[in-house]
Amino acid sequence: MNIGINIGISEKDRAAIAGGLANLLADTYTLYLTTHNFHWNVTGPMFNTLHQMFMVQYTELWNAVDPIAERIRSLGHSAPGSYAAFGSLASVPDAPVMPPKAMEMVKILVEGHEAVARTARNVFPLAEKGADQPTADLLTQRLTVHEQMAWMLRSLLEE
Ligand SMILES: [Fe+2]
Repeated sequence: MNIGINIGISEKDRAAIAGGLANLLADTYTLYLTTHNFHWNVTGPMFNTLHQMFMVQYTELWNAVDPIAERIRSLGHSAPGSYAAFGSLASVPDAPVMPPKAMEMVKILVEGHEAVARTARNVFPLAEKGADQPTADLLTQRLTVHEQMAWMLRSLLEE
């Protein structure tokens, strides 16, 4: 049996929000993988600090992808979940083929967190238009995390 969704958000708004959340999911997953890559490949005198810090960050990102994907499902759409789909939906670039130097890794991650924050922020007007509070709440949580991680990483680059 197939029954329609009637949660008080129009079909058009649900599609627009789910589309924005697909971008956020792709960005979050891509930044997760880059952060885990850097956890594996970081070298230099800051090894211990960065290896640990990247682990905390990739764990947070890994835990974040599930609620984003399941919000897309709650809105009646399918969640993307392949490298090809993520590659075409993400604004964050794939990790570099050759591991960069430690501080270059930090810079790439700052820019990644800022890009994900911009993606999350772009979905906000769509969620507000549809009075979609659960998505607005999720976006608020994601923005808090990405802006905080960007600040922490950025601080490592300052004199
Ligand atoms: Fe590890």
